[in-house]
Amino acid sequence: MTSALLVDSHGRTLRDLRVSVTDRCNFRCLYCLPETEAAQNFYRGRWATQPESKPIAWQWQPKSKILTFEEIERVVRLAVNLGIQKIRLTGGEPLLRQNLEQLVARIAALPGVTDLALTSNGFLFPQKGAALRAAGLQRISFSLDSLDPANFKRITGRDGLAEVLASIRLARELGMHPVKVNAVIIRGLNDHEIEALAEFARAEDLPLRFIEFMPLDSAHSWQKELVMPGREILARLQARHALVPALRVNQSETARRWTFADGRGELGLISPVSEPFCGHCNRLRLTADGKIRTCLFSVTEHDLRTRLRSAATDDELSAYLQSVVWQKEDRHHIGEPEFAQPERSMSCIGG
Ligand code: GTP
Ligand code: 5AD
Ligand code: SF4
Repeated sequence: MTSALLVDSHGRTLRDLRVSVTDRCNFRCLYCLPETEAAQNFYRGRWATQPESKPIAWQWQPKSKILTFEEIERVVRLAVNLGIQKIRLTGGEPLLRQNLEQLVARIAALPGVTDLALTSNGFLFPQKGAALRAAGLQRISFSLDSLDPANFKRITGRDGLAEVLASIRLARELGMHPVKVNAVIIRGLNDHEIEALAEFARAEDLPLRFIEFMPLDSAHSWQKELVMPGREILARLQARHALVPALRVNQSETARRWTFADGRGELGLISPVSEPFCGHCNRLRLTADGKIRTCLFSVTEHDLRTRLRSAATDDELSAYLQSVVWQKEDRHHIGEPEFAQPERSMSCIGG
């Protein structure tokens, strides 16, 4: 065990590793991986009336490039020895990865992993939930952008609202805690559901976070005008509820959280576009094909897979991780003239 840490040149120590276990997804959220030309042009407003729209060809990574559980476990073990405490499994949709519970069990058994979480769209959770819980999954975040079946389908490309709602309830019945809900809000698409989503958080007594649309969609259709700033969402919520600011548990939290006077439910605002929180970022990302990303908006990826598949020793890999982390970007540049959207979409990076 080494006492070395993952420190970047801006003085930040990384504690959070987000591991994408597959680039595949069974949803086609139009802010991430839109299915058709019409869906990727949703911002033009007329897209829903273009049923003949062509599907977009999309290439998944070949299996040979996807890290095995052994490889992922090794990276996590080395990262934990370098001070990482929190592991979040993401995708694509992580539940599409066969036998995911086996990976969960391996990671849960690693000393030093104090927090193990998963982000899922929830569609397959009813089949996988019990096995994941038994394997040691402590908590889960589900994506839910709409409570209206038609709008849910418009946004995700799938008719899955009932399944996701069932998954949220099942996760709680299985004793996962907390079960969080994430909603990406896009102006003109689901901003009229903000109040209903807040009511849902209260009715279900769970934390729900509103996320600003980020330029990470495969179509590169992001426009500033589509972003609902967290501040605007908050004003709408405050018009209805007496919200009490929640104390930050740590500075690296992505969400500004608000509670209700009676303690039922919690609302969060994740506002990376209008109020960036990069200064306290402690996150590192591993893609399913074994690339290290030091920022969601990195334009350079670092090839760990080749090193894992060479004869590199643990010490060499650890030193490599440290050298990569040192180069972590200070912040993103969304909205600035020099901003360049990363080539890969959120579906390849993980949320
Ligand atoms: P917990 O609060 O511990 O559950 O983790 P978290 O806040 O990281 O939550 P989660 O993993 O559910 O992330 C929620 C969303 O926040 C993601 O889907 C992203 O949209 C956004 N997000 C997470 N991390 C970052 C980040 O480092 N940078 C930016 N710009 N957005 C992020
Ligand atoms: N902007 C903001 N959030 C996004 N997500 C996916 N794409 C985007 C985007 N372009 C979120 C999903 C999910 C998580 C995995 O990432 O809603 O909650
Ligand atoms: Fe961290 Fe990059 Fe996200 Fe900023 S944009 S919070 S630096 S990952």
